[in-house]
Amino acid sequence: MTIFTARESTIRAYSRTYPVVFKTASYARQIDSDGKEYIDFFAGAGVLNFGHNNAAMKAAVVDYLQRDGVLHSLDLHTEAKAQFMQCFTDVILQPRDMPHRMQFTGPTGTNAVEAALKLARRVTGRRHVVAFNQGFHGMTLGALAATANEYFRGAAGVPLEYVSHQPFGDESADAEALLTALRDALQEPGVEPPAAFLLETIQAEGGVNVASAAWLQGVAALAKELGALFIVDDIQVGCGRTGSYFSFDDLAIEPDIVCLAKGIGGIGTPMAMNLVRPEHDEHWSPGEHTGTFRGQNLSFVAGKVALDYFADDTLMNEVKEKTGLMRDTLQPLLTGDSSLQLRGKGMIIGLDVGDGERAAAIVRQCFDDGLIVASCGIGGRVLKLIPPLTTPHGDLVAGLDIFVSAARRVLEEAA
Ligand SMILES: Cc1ncc(COP(=O)(O)O)c(C=O)c1O
Repeated sequence: MTIFTARESTIRAYSRTYPVVFKTASYARQIDSDGKEYIDFFAGAGVLNFGHNNAAMKAAVVDYLQRDGVLHSLDLHTEAKAQFMQCFTDVILQPRDMPHRMQFTGPTGTNAVEAALKLARRVTGRRHVVAFNQGFHGMTLGALAATANEYFRGAAGVPLEYVSHQPFGDESADAEALLTALRDALQEPGVEPPAAFLLETIQAEGGVNVASAAWLQGVAALAKELGALFIVDDIQVGCGRTGSYFSFDDLAIEPDIVCLAKGIGGIGTPMAMNLVRPEHDEHWSPGEHTGTFRGQNLSFVAGKVALDYFADDTLMNEVKEKTGLMRDTLQPLLTGDSSLQLRGKGMIIGLDVGDGERAAAIVRQCFDDGLIVASCGIGGRVLKLIPPLTTPHGDLVAGLDIFVSAARRVLEEAA
């Protein structure tokens, strides 16, 4: 019996799937306490876009610590925060003509979503939020109400109210028909007008479901027409994951609020931030939504280094090349089995094997063979590949090889 089995809560989950003790990590590799190496295609569920212990971020953090830089500061001004905010403005917001303000919330994604929902309700004076089937937005009660998964919802202990779930417009759906049905559903007698539409452009936990541009644009237009806020939760697929900073850069939509977390702190320390249009931000009163850990200085320091990756196209071009490599390597798995599907955008790719047990067997086989990969989607039937964007070419090839041979083995056995 280990300290974990003896003392850690029953709630532990990932450690049941990957039952080793990890010791060190560098970019896309982790080493356990027995010295076994793993290639990491899970990357902290989208936190480690720039790799474990990214050298430039590590150097900046170590230097900050050596200089006795302020570590904890609530929402006080610090130099690290000013530098992060200036860089975010220069590199991300201004080139996109985004007037949005930055609201730092408690440091996990669910905090950002809570704040976004509160603000939307405040701005509109309405309660009802429209979210989507298979959507995932976090575990605190407000965000959980917007999360679709019944297993997670079942743990709430109280009714999860004022959110309705509607069909999600993925690329295979008829966007026009879904938009008509959505409009009709909102006009049903007794349905309150919405405060907000909350969605992911790619449902990551929900099974790597990629929304079509037409559907997203239709939802954004409907939000505007109904006087509701359009909120994009880019917590898992933002920060470069899809080949540009925001997952929606190429989709011609203009969110009122963008929720960011996970990768924004760069090195893996937590930070969450909402980008809020100024006319909505004006509705907050000072200190109305607080949190002891708003804006982590180590995350500001490393997060600023992460922004350097977006000052030119080098990393995003690399992501495009790596996306091509991933697709070319994975595509042959589909040959001869029409029940399998490959979905994704940029370096988030899902292989839907149609059944949670098969997916779990592939996860296990990969882990035995030295690759960390997770499953997601309904019943866990989708293998989600989200390697760090900085994964060295050799590790990407090696990880894909492990994945393809593990998948083939399990799929052939099941056939
Ligand atoms: C899209 C999305 N929103 C919100 C969250 C919640 O973030 P956190 O677990 O940091 O609270 C997640 C986490 O996976 C997510 O993927």
